[in-house]
Amino acid sequence: MKTPGAIEIAPGTHWIGALDPGLREFDIILRTANGTTYNSYCVRGEFGVAVIDTVKASHADEFFSRLEEVVRYDEITTIVLNHLEPDHTGALPELMRRAPRARLYISAKAQMMLKALVKHDELAYTIVDTGDFVELGNRTLHFLNTPFLHWPDTQCTWLAQQGILFSGDVFGCHFCDARLFNDQAGDFRFSFEYYYAHIMRPFREHVLNALALIEPLPLRLLAPAHGPILRDAPKSYIQRYRQLAQPLLHNETGSDNKSLLVFYISSYGNTQHMAQAVRDGAESIPGVRVSLYDLQVGGDLPFVDLIEEADGLAFGSPTINGDAVKPVWDLLSSLAVIKVRDKLGASFGSYGWSGEAVNMIEDRLRGLKLRVPVKGVRARLIPTEAELASCHELGRQLARHLTGCVEHNIISMSELLAQEPPHA
Ligand code: FEO
Repeated sequence: MKTPGAIEIAPGTHWIGALDPGLREFDIILRTANGTTYNSYCVRGEFGVAVIDTVKASHADEFFSRLEEVVRYDEITTIVLNHLEPDHTGALPELMRRAPRARLYISAKAQMMLKALVKHDELAYTIVDTGDFVELGNRTLHFLNTPFLHWPDTQCTWLAQQGILFSGDVFGCHFCDARLFNDQAGDFRFSFEYYYAHIMRPFREHVLNALALIEPLPLRLLAPAHGPILRDAPKSYIQRYRQLAQPLLHNETGSDNKSLLVFYISSYGNTQHMAQAVRDGAESIPGVRVSLYDLQVGGDLPFVDLIEEADGLAFGSPTINGDAVKPVWDLLSSLAVIKVRDKLGASFGSYGWSGEAVNMIEDRLRGLKLRVPVKGVRARLIPTEAELASCHELGRQLARHLTGCVEHNIISMSELLAQEPPHA
């Protein structure tokens, strides 16, 4: 396939990005079967030219070569940075050197990153927010503040006269096809879904906030920072994002019940009995829907989907060789793709000799920014009736925290005074 030059995507508006067909792994965590593109765009107005995003440093020559096909450097008045990750800002320092008239337009959150990328004392930049715009004459660029898609700095840029949204990473995918437009490129649906699942999914509340800004736009073309330009049915991609980001559980059940998932794995049935007691305790509190799962079956993916929708999580594990067991760690290490911050967590388990698993799981839950409001329960080998009662109480207390009906210990002043150590 012939390597394209600059491609006009609307009158006076060009794609001037770069193709990276050899890339197989992006940011360590993302795989791509045929590479990616770094999409950069150039908008010509009566009073000046804007460049929207640049490319990875390794592909700067390609970018400058396409840019020079359609614009002189002294015509560039505006550089918009929708997102400052290096795959979009690698060519920025050199572009600034070649186009010294240009002023940068960034979100407030992007300042720190900009100063880290461009070691320059006198940076000419303007902070923009939703409602702000820059006038190029017969072309106007409006800014939409869309943070956390997927960095704090991210914004989108709306070219009103042509109905084009330059969206940054959002609505993009790692898929390299020189035919560039979605109606001509190969089938990239898997890449689009995969990209959402691995990049945007942890930020779905922010996706929904951004969609509220984007959906009312009279969109004709969606121009993301990676992968095909979406000119055929661009709104269908926005609708797909809404489907993916919308919470399902509460909509399906039509109830406001809190969801608590109790996971366990058990060698001799002891941790299983503890899990059942945790479940029974939680179920004794109205307003909580409890589900019990045996991790012996393996396979973390469906559980990750369930955890995304849940309000509370409890993990039961025996201790083997001073550690919780692998299926528990496998599941806990799979949660980076979803938001778990501020969910409630708890742990319990039977052990033979040392019993570290419960504390280790609690530490991991705290590390993931879950709240662990109730101390875990450990039982040596077969749990006693008292230990099962403690598990029942663990479930009950966790459910009360979930429903906002926490039982506080009331300590009277006379009790406090009675506890004071004697004065020296
Ligand atoms: Fe394509 Fe978040 O950079």
